[in-house]
Amino acid sequence: MAYIDENKINEIRNSVNIVDIIKEYVPLTSKGKNFFGVCPFHEDHAPSMSVSSDKQIYRCFSCGAAGNVFTFVKDYENVSFLEAVSIVARKAGILFEYTDVKKDVTSSKNATTYKVLNDASKFYQNNLFTKNGETALKYLKDRNFDLSFIKEFEFGLSTNNNSLYNFLNKKGYSDSDVEKARLISTEKYTHDIFVNRIMIPIHDLDGNVVGFTGRIYNQSDDAKYINSKESEVFQKGKILFNYHLAKNHIRNQHELIIVEGNMDALKLYASGIKNVVALMGTALTIDQVNVIKKLRTKVILMMDSDNAGKLGMYQNGNILKANGIDPFIVLLSGAKDPDEYINKFGIEKFQNLLKSPSSFLNYKLDYFKENLNLDDVSDLSKYIKLVLSDLKKEPDKILVEITLKKLSKDYNLDYENMMQEVELNNAKETKKIIKEEKQENPLKKLDEAVASILLAMMTDGKYIKSFIKQLGVFPEKWQRNLVNEIRYYYDKNKTINTADFITYLANKSDMQDIVTRIISNYGDIEITDELFNEYIKAEKRKILTAEIKEIKEKIKGEKDINKKIELGNELTRLKKEVDNNGDN
Ligand code: UTP
Ligand code: MN
Repeated sequence: MAYIDENKINEIRNSVNIVDIIKEYVPLTSKGKNFFGVCPFHEDHAPSMSVSSDKQIYRCFSCGAAGNVFTFVKDYENVSFLEAVSIVARKAGILFEYTDVKKDVTSSKNATTYKVLNDASKFYQNNLFTKNGETALKYLKDRNFDLSFIKEFEFGLSTNNNSLYNFLNKKGYSDSDVEKARLISTEKYTHDIFVNRIMIPIHDLDGNVVGFTGRIYNQSDDAKYINSKESEVFQKGKILFNYHLAKNHIRNQHELIIVEGNMDALKLYASGIKNVVALMGTALTIDQVNVIKKLRTKVILMMDSDNAGKLGMYQNGNILKANGIDPFIVLLSGAKDPDEYINKFGIEKFQNLLKSPSSFLNYKLDYFKENLNLDDVSDLSKYIKLVLSDLKKEPDKILVEITLKKLSKDYNLDYENMMQEVELNNAKETKKIIKEEKQENPLKKLDEAVASILLAMMTDGKYIKSFIKQLGVFPEKWQRNLVNEIRYYYDKNKTINTADFITYLANKSDMQDIVTRIISNYGDIEITDELFNEYIKAEKRKILTAEIKEIKEKIKGEKDINKKIELGNELTRLKKEVDNNGDN
């Protein structure tokens, strides 16, 4: 992210009222000190979002969205943080100029890994246009990938005899540097991982090269693709292939197309359909779903037309659906995948396909028929059961009704019977599915005391001082890290409030996620000095109880009698402290 002039940004935030800004997007009604509205960040009809004009923050207790005026605009408008700042500045009539560049990785702790990957990419690209690259270039040409395509996507070529390793070695990189980029293996002996393959760089969401996928082109006995192993900078489940190029097109067109193969994504992109990303041969992960969710656009799934692709469409569709996104489906016929389809039938035909996607439910009604013969009563019964069990997960009552009416007509079955079956446990089922497919919450155990203490410290410096005096330190690492940020902010600015602290965290997304979660879960608690002290006491008790438990374990295991006595004394002291803590 570009350089942030925090004072300027805080000035902008101070010159607007979050309530007025959010009102431009979502109707709000006032109730007591707060304003309430329907949260735009998940599908809802109830007013689960509250906006505090005191604290200048919003929170949704239903979906967990929370933040200040900038994060609201950022997520609503689907723009970067600084773009959001500039939108708010415009509304406030303040001049705010910025240059939004991709995240600066040259100062990251993995800077060398990024550099190695970039140098490797250049090396590979160069190879493709030497004599070594002739066959590979011919292969690409035969697949209709022309020269400008190859250059635009920075295709390259890996060769043999550890040429990459030698090249990087000469450039001064250590074996460990290159190993960290997953370009060589040092197991047994040191050697290049990619040999004689067409090399296609893989970028992270910000557009940094984080790995490669290498395709064979002149042999047939090996895996078609080899992908970089995961590394500090490359986690397959966190990226969407081609996202960095597609992002703005997705926003502008309010539509995202998800394909299975990397080559398909590139082919579509190069043919002018630029709002496309590829899953790298995997099922959607929760991180990817979260990226997609933030786009808040129509989603079209277009997997390959083989059985694996159809299954993938079903599974990925379910994952999206469980996370509140209703995807559309486009089926390909007469070709294995989008790339082949375009080569065979041309781009116009392909664009026509895109014009009439089917709903996910419609897709499933057909998908469940696969391998069944509906003229056979037992298969028909299987089919109906599959559909009914799927409809239990469908929250849209009208859709359920329409579907059942159609089934009842098509197969001459009793509507009421089927409806009864579907309604049975409908609600329970939906919840279960969402739970299963939603992410494990790393802060599941976030309790009220810890959250409230942290919130108080973000609101007023006096609580920071009181925390230091009374408790000093939290037991868990994320808690200590957050306290460090809070203290650092307060020391620097001599004042603190939640809304500006959120701005400060704009560059630290892990920390911001934590704060968001704290606010969305506990942001409604009005902190007072008495309450704060209660929470401190509760937390102290918890810490002491944990320590007592630990000492008891130690005493059990201790053989040396003197040490046992020592531990016993410590135990007495801790117990006394618990008592004292409870009393005052
Ligand atoms: P596909 O076989 O559909 O690949 O696999 P593709 O994109 O159509 O490739 P071409 O057209 O044959 O060149 C889909 C995805 O699965 C992963 C890759 O990410 C690929 O894009 N895959 C496939 C592998 O990782 N390894 C393989 O051997 C094959
Ligand atoms: Mn293909």
